[in-house]
Amino acid sequence: MYPVMIDGPRVWLREFDDGDLDATMAIVGDPEVTKTLSFETPTSEEQAAVLATHLDKARSKPRVEYYLAAVEQGTGELIGMVRLTLAWPRAGDLGYIVRRDRWGLGYATEIATAMLDFGYGRLRLHRVQASCEPDNPSSERVLRKLGFSFEGRLRDHTVRGGSFHDSLQYSLLAPEWRQPRPEAPPSPPDESNQATVAG
Ligand SMILES: CC(C)(COP(=O)(O)OP(=O)(O)OC[C@H]1O[C@@H](n2cnc3c(N)ncnc32)[C@H](O)[C@@H]1OP(=O)(O)O)[C@@H](O)C(=O)NCCC(=O)NCCS
Repeated sequence: MYPVMIDGPRVWLREFDDGDLDATMAIVGDPEVTKTLSFETPTSEEQAAVLATHLDKARSKPRVEYYLAAVEQGTGELIGMVRLTLAWPRAGDLGYIVRRDRWGLGYATEIATAMLDFGYGRLRLHRVQASCEPDNPSSERVLRKLGFSFEGRLRDHTVRGGSFHDSLQYSLLAPEWRQPRPEAPPSPPDESNQATVAG
């Protein structure tokens, strides 16, 4: 499906284009943003190459990656990015990033909500998974607010800065999406940080 445009209450999700390099660098060029992500802070040249790859993937058929820009409706600024990568069977992997000056305003929750509506609705997904590092409580909180369930701790799952990092794995199934639920409890660091994947 291309192009995709999704409306949220305060943001639009749209396809990236060639002119988005500086706006994306304002997000992922910030080391504070990438410090708990699975990639290093890119240079502008590296980010240009990443953007070009995503532009290609967006037009590929079948399309297996929906990597969309989140545009703040009030200002027209690109303030975040969200990715849903598809896998068999009817599964997706979710990731999101918000520009640092917009943290704490509910944007990640809103952006992910719009993408999940699209994933479970238009794409008919059954399972969406997402992961975050143990020392990323705001991302874990976003997942819990969305209704994701903790599945386990993936040991040495990513590499950054020359060392391996664990990930906390979460998932959400289609029948669980948009179900009424009690207010999400705050992330209990002990619960997720102590669990490990058996094996
Ligand atoms: C993680 C990230 C996407 C969150 O974006 P955001 O727009 O600030 O998220 P929201 O405002 O929707 O929700 C954040 C929640 O975390 C909570 N939070 C923030 N810091 C926290 C902390 N140190 N401990 C616990 N909760 C925290 C906020 O209070 C909020 O919860 P609330 O609505 O119950 O108050 C953003 O910080 C970011 O882009 N980080 C860098 C990239 C990243 O880590 N992406 C996720 C990859 S897994």
